[in-house]
Amino acid sequence: MQLPARVKLVEVGPRDGLQNEKAPVPAAVKVELVHRLQSAGLTEIEVTSFVSPKWVPQMADNAEVMAAIQRKPGVRYSVLTPNLQGFEAALRAQPDEIVVFGAASEAFSQKNINCSIEESIARFHPVVQAAVAAGKAVRGAISCSVGCPYEGEIAPERVEQVARLMHGIGVQHVGVADTIGIGTPRKVQRALEAALRVYSLEQVSGHFHDTYGMALANTLASLELGVWQFDTSVAGLGGCPYAKGATGNVATEDVVYLLHGMGIETGIDLDLLIDAGKFISDFLGRKPHSRAANALLTKRLG
Ligand code: HMG
Ligand code: MG
Repeated sequence: MQLPARVKLVEVGPRDGLQNEKAPVPAAVKVELVHRLQSAGLTEIEVTSFVSPKWVPQMADNAEVMAAIQRKPGVRYSVLTPNLQGFEAALRAQPDEIVVFGAASEAFSQKNINCSIEESIARFHPVVQAAVAAGKAVRGAISCSVGCPYEGEIAPERVEQVARLMHGIGVQHVGVADTIGIGTPRKVQRALEAALRVYSLEQVSGHFHDTYGMALANTLASLELGVWQFDTSVAGLGGCPYAKGATGNVATEDVVYLLHGMGIETGIDLDLLIDAGKFISDFLGRKPHSRAANALLTKRLG
């Protein structure tokens, strides 16, 4: 079986990771984290979201963070935008890519963005049109592609349905998200295959939370399908405020360790990445949620 020779990682720690932190994280710390991540070789960084500050207070400093980042050539900075109001605010911050986020579960759509799946697509449509007109790339996230905290298991057909709806309004790329990290390799493959019936291999990525410790196995199972793009979060930061009990995305450090160990290129310097993860973990007063980072940090002590 031929695995991809190169993988692209989209670092979502500053957004998916930090959105779930209860205590405020100062904008300057977020900016420093982004700087460290780009220095470590990440070329795609999901920086923040333009959502209601009443819903997600931690992302209220979105414009401030975007304005303070010293942009590195070749790095693509993305932000989440659920509606036109968010998009218009985002546009002023000059992101390279915007992300609309829907779900394969009705109940999760309601809890997360306060509307049905159908309504969400209707809201995304003008956002996507405006983004494309402004020359921005457009990605769509499909939450609860394997399971939902409210509805339980989600059939692959529902992922395909949402993928078709997103494709129909011009979304260029979809992220198949296991929001609550409940998936196991075959189920994750079924969800990815559902998206791949609508989008090409170049247009599908995996976004795996690691609640049940399955995310690395699910990443490998995705590689077996030829999927070569993944969202990961430094130090395993995060979780979704509307998916109770769900932990962060798979740690970027663990995925990089896995990939480099298999001879798959990422362009990322693992040592600098570990430093970035340690920086934010020290700020948060805990150890990184990354087995590889903790092992390598211990080894450094000699
Ligand atoms: P709503 O209450 O239905 O919106 O919320 P509304 O249009 O009725 O407006 C109500 C109020 O919100 C108004 O303010 C608007 O101005 C304001 P008020 O008059 O009451 O003072 N508002 C906004 N403010 C700032 N930015 C905006 C915006 N829109 C309205 N864009 C809404 C709908 C989508 C806004 C709300 O439900 C929301 O913000 N949800 C946040 C959801 C979120 O951020 N979730 C986490 C990210 S998704 C995720 O983590 C999953 C992912 O990682 C993949 C995976 O793992 O599954 C991507
Ligand atoms: Mg997520």
